[in-house]
Amino acid sequence: MGEWQGEVRRDDALVERVSAFTDDDLASLCEAVSAAIIEGGNFGWAQPPERAALEAYFRGLLLVPERSLFLARADGVVVGSAQLLRPSRNNQAQAFSATLKQLFIAPYARRRGLARMLADRVEERARAIGCQVMNLELREGQGEAVAFFESIGYRRWGEHPAYARVNGRTLRGFYYYKPLQPGGVVA
Ligand SMILES: CC(C)(COP(=O)(O)OP(=O)(O)OC[C@H]1O[C@@H](n2cnc3c(N)ncnc32)[C@H](O)[C@@H]1OP(=O)(O)O)[C@@H](O)C(=O)NCCC(=O)NCCS
Repeated sequence: MGEWQGEVRRDDALVERVSAFTDDDLASLCEAVSAAIIEGGNFGWAQPPERAALEAYFRGLLLVPERSLFLARADGVVVGSAQLLRPSRNNQAQAFSATLKQLFIAPYARRRGLARMLADRVEERARAIGCQVMNLELREGQGEAVAFFESIGYRRWGEHPAYARVNGRTLRGFYYYKPLQPGGVVA
């Protein structure tokens, strides 16, 4: 299990922030992300990268000061993850906000409330470090994610007509935000 940094439990499910991987966790994380990409998740990668490249990607994430990685487990096995991205230190004007990136759950563990637990935990951490607003970006074709994020209070504020290109097709992008403080107040 990753180094303990605060966790949320629910029966067979667990969400935690990690700063190190066991070999088993890294292997199940790579399997989960590959399964999500193959199923069509398509969040950044069009095809699953080679295992070594994926492992290097996740290990590299842990070294970036502005990024935090959260893992979701079902029955102890990693089945999803999410990242919290804080603005760089020189970006004082946006220090009150954060970005939620690459939240996914493997197809074999969906519709059990794990994504909701992950998002709750990421938002809780953002609040704890003083963030008042969470931002995120989705794109055309991510209908499940649109339904999910709108169901947990994210509001769409804008649309980009040429946000991404996948298999030669230009796709729209959707911009979302969610106020993190009670009552939606940004001080
Ligand atoms: C979007 C995603 C993270 C949802 O994961 P999940 O663990 O199945 O979601 P949850 O079980 O926590 O769902 C919570 C609520 O979100 C909504 N929701 C989730 N998936 C949905 C779907 N496919 N269709 C409609 N609503 C959905 C529902 O309101 C659901 O509550 P309910 O099950 O009580 O009806 C998952 O489908 C996924 O990983 N998709 C591919 C990756 C992706 O596109 N990520 C976004 C990039 S940041």
